[in-house]
Amino acid sequence: MFLVAFILWVVFNPVGLEKVANPEDTSYLPVPDWYFLFLYQLLKYFPGKYVVFGTVVIPAIATLGLFLLPWLDRRKARHPFKRPIATATMVLSVFFMIWLTYVAEEEHLTELAKQGPQAATPGSQAGGNAGPLVDPNDPGAQIFAQSCASCHGANLEGQVGPKLLGIGNQMNEAQLVEYINNPKPVAGYQSIMPPKGGLQSDDQVKQVAAWLAKQKQK
Ligand code: HEC
Repeated sequence: MFLVAFILWVVFNPVGLEKVANPEDTSYLPVPDWYFLFLYQLLKYFPGKYVVFGTVVIPAIATLGLFLLPWLDRRKARHPFKRPIATATMVLSVFFMIWLTYVAEEEHLTELAKQGPQAATPGSQAGGNAGPLVDPNDPGAQIFAQSCASCHGANLEGQVGPKLLGIGNQMNEAQLVEYINNPKPVAGYQSIMPPKGGLQSDDQVKQVAAWLAKQKQK
């Protein structure tokens, strides 16, 4: 039952993917998923050559302890209060895991806040300032001006839709075609982009995607 409920949950609550990985984007702050945050936080307390304590030694001791438990504690008593050492160790470990997770989350939010609200929008990750449009006479550019500019701005600067300057740094042509055909929610925007961005033919989608894919910024 748990598995079925879990599958249904995942199917009906799809997790949005982040932007396509971009090695040139130095403002990106990577963090692990929440269930690894405590390990990630642990690493921060072991700088430089001591990192091996955070990566190997402490996790190995904890895992070995769990493995060896049947040999370490051979008493018959099973009630938690009759096994004070085991119970205290577990309570403390869980407490520290929750605490480290909390601290990691707080630190991540502080770092995000330092980057300012711009950090979440696409074009800004590509380097901030409005660069020139690439290839403004491309047929894709004309389709864009007719069908997309009302929401994304004539110079890709963004309006009710997100800024698309530098979108080529984040999506390639195939990904753009896929996105335009089936727009997915972007944080901070209302999901008003119509399928195919309002275009009629796959051919037009391809042309506009090809043009957008060229919009790279340094
Ligand atoms: C009615 C307004 C509207 C029109 C028309 C529109 N868009 Fe959008 N677009 C949006 C909104 C709003 C979003 C943010 C996603 C969402 O919440 O739906 C978006 C998102 C996008 C994204 C993803 C941006 C990102 O950062 O991930 C791309 C690419 C895009 N649009 C391309 C296009 C193209 C190409 C066209 C024209 C063929 C178009 N859009 C037409 C409103 C529009």
